Amino acid sequence: MGFTDEDRVRARAIIDRYPHAKSAMLPLLLLAQDRDGWVTPEAMEEIAVWLGTTPALVLGTCSFYTMLKREPVGDLVVSVCTNIACLVNRGPELLDGLRSRYEGDTAIMVEEVECIAACDRAPAIQINYEYYGPVDTTAAVDIIEQYRSGALQARTISGSSRGAK
Ligand code: FES
Repeated sequence: MGFTDEDRVRARAIIDRYPHAKSAMLPLLLLAQDRDGWVTPEAMEEIAVWLGTTPALVLGTCSFYTMLKREPVGDLVVSVCTNIACLVNRGPELLDGLRSRYEGDTAIMVEEVECIAACDRAPAIQINYEYYGPVDTTAAVDIIEQYRSGALQARTISGSSRGAK
């Protein structure tokens, strides 16, 4: 879809908040992700022009943060922790269960993540960065399907509450 003129006005206002334009990199990447659901190569190129830097530097920043997506992710991102507390509480089985349940489903992306700071709720997941746990595969699928049906309102993957695309 790409940036609109309205987005460009917002981007200018964001850049003007900072003494150095490059400091606006993250909010501009989030703006792009809110727009398209992921950060497209075209968005990275335009952000580079706005900030007087190179697309490679924008890509380098974008690839550092796992919350910034560099490919389409569908409506829901399901992040499954398999770090130590979740590892010993069947997190890997949960990950396998969700991956096989949603394999080929372009609306749902299941990803493995490191500790999401919900160790007391292990195994823990996030659905568009909303926390759930402890959950098994059945409980997680039930929650995911509530989002899909609209019974639960998802955040965007950038964390705003406008609802999933
Ligand atoms: S180890 Fe899974 S949330 Fe911390």
